[in-house]
Amino acid sequence: MPENRQAVGKGSGKVILLGEHAVVHGTPALAMALPFGIAATARSFDGPISARVPAWDLEARVDRGDAADQALRALVMSLGLEGKGVAVEADSKLPARAGLGASAALAAATARALTTFFQVKPDRDTLFEAVQASEKIFHGNPSGLDASVALEGSVVRYSRRGGVTRLSAPPPPIIVVHSGEPGDTGVTVAKFAARLEQQPAEGQRRIDQISNLVEEGVDAIKVWDLPTIGAVMNENQEHLRWFGVSTKPLDRICEIALASGALGAKLTGGGGGGCAVLLVTPEFQDIVSSRLEKAGFSVVRP
Ligand code: MEV
Repeated sequence: MPENRQAVGKGSGKVILLGEHAVVHGTPALAMALPFGIAATARSFDGPISARVPAWDLEARVDRGDAADQALRALVMSLGLEGKGVAVEADSKLPARAGLGASAALAAATARALTTFFQVKPDRDTLFEAVQASEKIFHGNPSGLDASVALEGSVVRYSRRGGVTRLSAPPPPIIVVHSGEPGDTGVTVAKFAARLEQQPAEGQRRIDQISNLVEEGVDAIKVWDLPTIGAVMNENQEHLRWFGVSTKPLDRICEIALASGALGAKLTGGGGGGCAVLLVTPEFQDIVSSRLEKAGFSVVRP
């Protein structure tokens, strides 16, 4: 197989504006790529395929057995590249375990670096399936939303059945704030499902409401109706709280942000820690950020 000497691939980080968790159960979600993510560089190497992320102090190798190793192996096998000697090094501007789609961004960047290195041209579905194969190792039942945004890099509506639709809207003005605690998507996806099982009628009613909020948000983003997007984000956060996937620090971020002029505030991604996404018009961005930083939270910047 012909090889390039070196190849670079990119994957976007993401925030979910509306619909996380419910999307696992079949409803739509609205998400947008962050302007920063992960760039992976593949270089020729005489040994098993490996991927290093110095910013996370992580090294995965296809011939070893922890979750990151298995995820890399699943990605490589899905692309049909097993047995090839290459080393990948990834430059990540995303914190890990923060709800910002870092694992999917890493998988997307690695898949693109490897396929460019080996001069294969996978179609969109093959790349998606490879990223999904790696995501399944980290949490058994990924909806495909993170993989789609990591590969697509824009504002999208996504559902398991309908797949990904790019929206032509520009990304709305947001601030991403870290709660100071790591999240674990596998754990919160299981927690959400357990709550649904305990109270199926109420849980399903709330999932249906989240679905309506997402559709309202999709319509609002197309006409740049920021107050409506903010209002539906706030309602979505109430449902996520009911399902038990928010935390005290995430709730506190939302409270401070809304009291400081944000239009909308909610956890983003898996929750249980990680980040909140705030919808904040430019004139309020400084005050919202500085109040949150004074309260001990950190704004996520590239
Ligand atoms: C995680 O970023 C988003 C979740 O909805 C899980 C998923 O969609 O697979 C919590």
